[in-house]
Amino acid sequence: MGFCPRCRRSDPLVEPDVTRPAVVKAGLQSGSGASRTETGIAEVDRVLGGGMVTGSVILVGGEPGVGKSTLLDQVAAKVASAGSRVLLASAEESVGQVGLRQRRLGVDGCGVDLLSSSDIDLVVDEALDYDVLIIDSIQTVAAGGVSGSPGSVAQVRACAERAVRAAKQTGLTVILVGHITKEGSLAGPKTLEHVVDVVLYVESDQGLDLRILRSMKNRFGGVWATGVFEMTERGLVEVPDPSRVTLDRRNGNLPGSVIMPAIMGRRCVLNEVQALVVPCHDQMAPRRSTTGASAERVHQILAVLDRRGGLSLSRSEVYVSVMGGIRVQDPATDLAIAAAIVSSRLTAALPRIAAFGEVGLTGEVRPAPQADTRVAECHRLGIETVLANPTIRDVAGLIQAITGLTDHENEVSPVPRDREVDGISSLDARAPVRILG
Ligand code: TYD
Ligand code: MG
Repeated sequence: MGFCPRCRRSDPLVEPDVTRPAVVKAGLQSGSGASRTETGIAEVDRVLGGGMVTGSVILVGGEPGVGKSTLLDQVAAKVASAGSRVLLASAEESVGQVGLRQRRLGVDGCGVDLLSSSDIDLVVDEALDYDVLIIDSIQTVAAGGVSGSPGSVAQVRACAERAVRAAKQTGLTVILVGHITKEGSLAGPKTLEHVVDVVLYVESDQGLDLRILRSMKNRFGGVWATGVFEMTERGLVEVPDPSRVTLDRRNGNLPGSVIMPAIMGRRCVLNEVQALVVPCHDQMAPRRSTTGASAERVHQILAVLDRRGGLSLSRSEVYVSVMGGIRVQDPATDLAIAAAIVSSRLTAALPRIAAFGEVGLTGEVRPAPQADTRVAECHRLGIETVLANPTIRDVAGLIQAITGLTDHENEVSPVPRDREVDGISSLDARAPVRILG
């Protein structure tokens, strides 16, 4: 028959696939030992749970400019150098532009094939001879026969579904890049999260040089893993020990500086929180500014310190900043913020201390989850004094502890030297951790 009897279209008729799916007896299913390809970049492999599972679809999301293309150029080069056939399909950039970036990263000549096309069917067809296909980005490819412009929800979904089908049918490993706006509002990639196997996000804050790779979904591994990188002139460089970078960058024992052991994924990373409290001389409402921490949280901590701790702050300008640009979402970071504010308000230069615990509205300091992990990380880096529940039970106890810890010797020096606490070297992993009360 030359046409469809129902819609009367004259396209050739194709016999439908009527093969019935067969029941697989328990214990006989294949795929239990999924094969993986390591990317050779340790931080990426850790976030993936040990490398890319063959035939899986991985979505890499992030704001424009955060470094997704850079990261994937580096991953593609490593995987291709190890012998896999890799096709990088870029619809956003020409082959020449991608080549320039590869040269800048020093990864040109690693055997990654390039294709510049916005036709998803062409891209998927070309990819059949490859092991790994990278599509940069899913918002700039389009599927024939689907209405809407590239980037629309219908297009993004249709393109992703075609890529997923190819992955499942042929064992091709697919990496999709998706742009997300700051509010995460771009509907496209968000709607893909249930279609793909793995969702990774690349994050950065305040245009600083650290980049965090987080796993938000992983059908083949843990979801809370994080990887840390630094954006350099020659691409992303792994930061295997971010806590040490924080401590190395710290500018001595100045008032208002406290170490914050925050849980990021499954690991604890030390960040530095800085606060500056200065008298407000005009009649306007005093200025409060925060970077890297939630403004709402900081306002709450200020109110609690004022009301429950008797620390007058209502006529002070307050600036709080979490250094390094890592967005910290852990509520147990309250106490470090509070300690930094108290230290600055009292102009108390402290020895190197860390603090953690959630601060409640009645001024209580709550025990934090994973307290042992946090203390161990402080311990590993030689931080002797850690303020936490149970010995710090409320903000009044915090203020008392900080007053007792004030480093008067360093306070008089305009730039205090970074002395070791009680002669314990910061590299001595056996240094005892004293929880102060
Ligand atoms: P890019 O990977 O293009 O971001 P995305 O694909 O997420 O939009 O990275 C863009 C930024 O990274 C750009 O501002 C330049 C900077 N960059 C470096 O600092 N070093 C480098 O080696 C490269 C390639 C980019
Ligand atoms: Mg890009």
